Amino acid sequence: MKTVTVNASQTYEVKVGRGLLADLGKEIAPRMGKGRAVCLVSDSNVANLYLDAAQESLEDAGLRVEPFVMFAGEIHKNVRTYAKLLDYMAENQITRADALVALGGGVVGDLTGFAAATYLRGVGFFQVPTTLLAAVDASVGGKTAVDLDAGKNLAGAFYQPRLVLCDLNTLDTLPDDIFADGCAEVIKYGMIGDPDLLDKLETIDFRADPEAIVARCIEMKRDLVEADEFDTGARQLLNLGHTMGHGIEACSDYGISHGKAVAIGLTMAARTAIAHGLCPGEVLPRLIALLEQYHLPTATDYTVEALYDRVLADKKRAGETQTLVMPTAWGKSELHQVPVRELRDWIQKGLTL
Ligand SMILES: NC(=O)c1ccc[n+]([C@@H]2O[C@H](COP(=O)([O-])OP(=O)(O)OC[C@H]3O[C@@H](n4cnc5c(N)ncnc54)[C@H](O)[C@@H]3O)[C@@H](O)[C@H]2O)c1
Repeated sequence: MKTVTVNASQTYEVKVGRGLLADLGKEIAPRMGKGRAVCLVSDSNVANLYLDAAQESLEDAGLRVEPFVMFAGEIHKNVRTYAKLLDYMAENQITRADALVALGGGVVGDLTGFAAATYLRGVGFFQVPTTLLAAVDASVGGKTAVDLDAGKNLAGAFYQPRLVLCDLNTLDTLPDDIFADGCAEVIKYGMIGDPDLLDKLETIDFRADPEAIVARCIEMKRDLVEADEFDTGARQLLNLGHTMGHGIEACSDYGISHGKAVAIGLTMAARTAIAHGLCPGEVLPRLIALLEQYHLPTATDYTVEALYDRVLADKKRAGETQTLVMPTAWGKSELHQVPVRELRDWIQKGLTL
């Protein structure tokens, strides 16, 4: 097992290893203060696989468990599901001393975190990520959100968990396709700032033994979160591939998954950076080959017209400038301020090099 400690506005541990779900109750109970009840949130797929084990472990530790199962999928990460969850907690007498446990992928984690941040102005929050994407990215760092009709993650809060418990055994039941989504975020970390990680990804298949790669990604996220918890500077590097990716997700009405959209967004960022002379040309074919090795898409048919409004709705726009993350070398990226009037051209270059 590996433990990464995050020193943000709340200090917490991220534990990564096999078989940790059995200890969920033992890990959470001492971090509950006076609270004795948890609302255990999961989605319809994950609940079938892991809800009973999680509930049993929590009850064995003396906690009252109120399970809430939402429909699976990004289209349910919305205000309606969020409101249902709040009502459910109120009906089941969840108090300020109690807590929410998110058992699932990034959708469950983001929505549960936002409920934890806002219910009674904030209750305890624990993350139990069950996708690779949630393990390496969504469960750590305290960004919580739901989507609005206008775009992704437009209502949310910064709210750190008290503990993240990542049982790598849960990743074994992920369909290949969903494991691949997480690989897009792993490759993103490499492109942000770790050429050694990229080299490793080119030579090994880490699915059978993911601990070291997952822990390395969490350390990178930890470093950026500690440097800039509220996302006004260095943390924005984590958005590499995401500004265009969010646009692609929204254009597809969330038919294209977050991970696949980020993969395409990574190649768009590389194309744009190369076209602007910010990045050497050889980065693009190597990046495309790595993404294809992990069964990820590298291009989109959406036009600049389709993407422009969606990209403009992105949270990273401040007034008349948009922050874009641009790769500048293999395993290195930087932030760039782009005037909104030039954005259309930057998107176009990402589509056409
Ligand atoms: N908060 C953050 O910092 C952050 C960072 C990155 C992404 N995100 C968000 O994360 C979300 C994407 O997360 P995701 O890719 O985990 O999607 P997801 O939560 O929708 O999970 C993908 C699918 O896998 C299923 N699943 C989950 N665990 C499983 C398991 N162990 N075995 C079998 N099936 C399982 C789910 O039911 C779902 O159908 C997006 O909403 C994105 O915006 C948030």
